[in-house]
Amino acid sequence: MRYLIGNWKMNPESDEKAVELARSVEQGVAGIEKVTTIVVPPYPFLGAVHAVLDRTLLGAQDVFWEESGAYTGEVSAHELREVGVRYVIIGHSERRAMGESNVVVNKKLRAVLEEELIAVLCVGESKEIRVKGTTAAQAFVKQQLEDSMKGIKNWKSGIEDNVIIAYEPVWAIGTGEEDDPQDAATMTRFIKQLLVTNYGLRVAVLYGGSTDAANVAGYIETGIIDGVLVGGVSLKADEFIAMARNIERAREVEK
Ligand code: 13P
Repeated sequence: MRYLIGNWKMNPESDEKAVELARSVEQGVAGIEKVTTIVVPPYPFLGAVHAVLDRTLLGAQDVFWEESGAYTGEVSAHELREVGVRYVIIGHSERRAMGESNVVVNKKLRAVLEEELIAVLCVGESKEIRVKGTTAAQAFVKQQLEDSMKGIKNWKSGIEDNVIIAYEPVWAIGTGEEDDPQDAATMTRFIKQLLVTNYGLRVAVLYGGSTDAANVAGYIETGIIDGVLVGGVSLKADEFIAMARNIERAREVEK
């Protein structure tokens, strides 16, 4: 399966607009078979958006790790499930930039798995690290994954289908400076091998960072990247739908 996830971030400004966008996506992806399309609105719009979705699935941008109680401002995995959420983005670099550590990301991952939702765990290096070369970038991502996935190895139930990794190099997010598909493929291969070696998990790995309708097929046609996590373009229904189509049509390549 190929994935297209639209992370709306703190947009749009009203629930009418959120519903309109969700409706357009839902209609636009009709007939697209090979792509799982997921939209990820801000918390206040989740319920209204869910009401107009059918083949498109619903994601959340964050979660809190406790089940319930006196945690003002937080939202639990169970509450997310109650409003129709199936996918939860964890450890997005924009949250990490606000101080979210790998320890916190690990707690959130466990909460999502406990609730049997699907975690979209984000990792990715800064420009400062990338300029040092591939080895430095891989070492950074390895540390993020190992710290974020602590305790997952002997998890009670099969979680292969409940973890997706999104490789989003920080310098490529919202900059128009997307990663070269072959470089993203090299990192993806590294991540997949690490997860098999460390946890016995064969998971989907997505790329994120300045993807659009014009460049998306290049990532899929590496044969190893399973889809994309999209920011800016996910707010433009027509182009987002074109991305779904281009992912669907991308050539099958031997892995
Ligand atoms: P852009 O597609 O706007 O670069 O954002 C990527 C992203 O952060 C998705 O989570």
